[in-house]
Amino acid sequence: NMPPHVTIVEVGPRDGLQNEKTIVPTSVKVELIKMLISSGLPVVEATSFVSPKWVPQLADAKDVMEAIRSISGVRLPVLTPNLKGFEAAVAAGAKEVAVFAAASESFSKSNINCSIEDSLTRYREVANESKKLSIPFRGYVSCVVGCPIEGAVPPSKVAYVAKELYEMGCYEISLGDTIGVGTPGTVVPMLQSVLKVVPIDKLAVHFHDTYGQALANILASLQMGIRTIDSSVSGLGGCPYAKGASGNVATEDVVYMLNGLGVKTNVDLGKLMHAGDFICKHLGRPLGSKTATALSKIKGPTCKL
Ligand code: HMG
Ligand code: MG
Repeated sequence: NMPPHVTIVEVGPRDGLQNEKTIVPTSVKVELIKMLISSGLPVVEATSFVSPKWVPQLADAKDVMEAIRSISGVRLPVLTPNLKGFEAAVAAGAKEVAVFAAASESFSKSNINCSIEDSLTRYREVANESKKLSIPFRGYVSCVVGCPIEGAVPPSKVAYVAKELYEMGCYEISLGDTIGVGTPGTVVPMLQSVLKVVPIDKLAVHFHDTYGQALANILASLQMGIRTIDSSVSGLGGCPYAKGASGNVATEDVVYMLNGLGVKTNVDLGKLMHAGDFICKHLGRPLGSKTATALSKIKGPTCKL
């Protein structure tokens, strides 16, 4: 029951680089985005128009957008936490944005400094402006199975926030296991609950791999009909306001699994690994995907996928 095609939303330049201790130079970010695009990824989340006091790593959002402004044929969404961010994003040439809410009250407060209800009010303002300008906007729900402060999160709370985002006009709702605690045992009931209020073709999944459960969760999600998967090159990522959270599932590993399942993604694994190698060398760390690590050691027939 696997689909012929799955859309991968690459979040490395945003989710990955927002969490780096050192600030990555704008030119390196731009080069990474270009390499990711050339690997065939259809969507690359480029940066965030958030407060530079909260996320100094992405304070160069305007410059990043300036450098990729003329690129066409690929979607390059950016995160916007409020109207101020939305206006700055549009001024910088963004053609697609994303708002981000949480299913846990404590995480909402620590990540965006307001309650869930207040965030939804802000996002309705962003939604109204987006509609006026015909700018598609995505919605994230964080902490869909667990919260770093509150622990387990009830599926009904996730469904509530997802429904609100859907009703305000988000073209897609990405369900984020921010701290990577989910297993198919918790992810499946969460999806079942959300599916009662949001159609399956409007949902995406966004797994961090803290406990090594991301690929299992993705497979379970695919079996339930999910067709859009967020991932990050070389497994970069994490949220600065989610202590202990590790990177997103590595895009290379997702592509390897989908290739094995006969599911098309349009991504050239070799070129993608090249992008992973580039950013890992820059950050001075070993390759962050199992696939790139394995293929970098193996020469010969097993290399052929
Ligand atoms: P606040 O401090 O409550 O904001 O932050 P404020 O409205 O009181 O304004 C304070 C200052 O920030 C003012 O400047 C504003 O102008 C400025 P000052 O007068 O002090 O000089 N400001 C801004 N500057 C630039 N861009 C803006 C903006 N808004 C206000 N958009 C705020 C509230 C939401 C802004 C802040 O909490 C924030 O930026 N949070 C973002 C945190 C973040 O980016 N987290 C990571 C992304 S979410 C994530 O990773 C999860 C995800 O991957 C899914 C998953 O894994 O679950 C998506
Ligand atoms: Mg994330």
